[in-house]
Amino acid sequence: MNNVELPFIREMFDAIAPKYDFLNRSLSLYQDVIWRRRAIASLKLGNGRGKKMLDVACGTCDMAIEAVRRTQGRLSVTATDFSFNMLALGKTKVAKEPHGKAIALAQGNGLALPSFEEAYDAVTIAFGIRNIMDRKGALEEFHRCLKEEGRVAVLELTTPTNKLLRGLYLLYFQKVLPIIGGLFSKNKGAYSYLPDSVLKFPSHAEFKAIMTEAGFTDVHARPMTFGIVTLFTGKKG
Ligand SMILES: C[S@@+](CC[C@H](N)C(=O)[O-])C[C@H]1O[C@@H](n2cnc3c(N)ncnc32)[C@H](O)[C@@H]1O
Repeated sequence: MNNVELPFIREMFDAIAPKYDFLNRSLSLYQDVIWRRRAIASLKLGNGRGKKMLDVACGTCDMAIEAVRRTQGRLSVTATDFSFNMLALGKTKVAKEPHGKAIALAQGNGLALPSFEEAYDAVTIAFGIRNIMDRKGALEEFHRCLKEEGRVAVLELTTPTNKLLRGLYLLYFQKVLPIIGGLFSKNKGAYSYLPDSVLKFPSHAEFKAIMTEAGFTDVHARPMTFGIVTLFTGKKG
């Protein structure tokens, strides 16, 4: 599998980790919490009893925390990321959670998951797949790790399709966000990389086709907040 940008991306997230949550909440006006909530809800995990979820590119563990809160610790979650600093912050947050024991953390690359075949009822990735160039390879890995009937949820930043909204959004995203992000994170590169990577992300139709090629069925794209984020879902089998 091929992801030439891998070391650059890991170093970038290691560098911005301390300010990551603060910038996420403020730059999205708390919408990121709602987006993750909807992604977890789409997995239809019921009360989570006896079920297992894998969250890839977990960052500071917001998806994992949302999942165990929703299922009151009955769901077991493995949260994995290749950035040590993001995981370290996630570990601190998980330790403070009443159901934190249901979350296991592992450092690893999303393109080569150290997991058993058909081990999980759900696989999620929030704002991570954009950073992985070999998207089909990553999705095939997720498919391999899922049980039959298991579900995948991919949450990703996208660009609105409405022309006016798209213009306004790009103005904010390309001009304002790199300045604010750069000021707070002291890493201007990371917040210039962000709009670039979002603009390069495939269209809904293209990404859905990649999911289908990777083996998923029942593939859907659900735009949220004027299309600045899309929840892609699919099923194994
Ligand atoms: C924008 S953050 C998203 C974090 C978290 N999922 C969230 O919802 O806030 C992207 C994360 O993906 C991780 N990442 C990027 N490429 C990865 C890869 N190939 N394997 C594992 N983690 C990766 C980064 O280290 C970073 O923590």
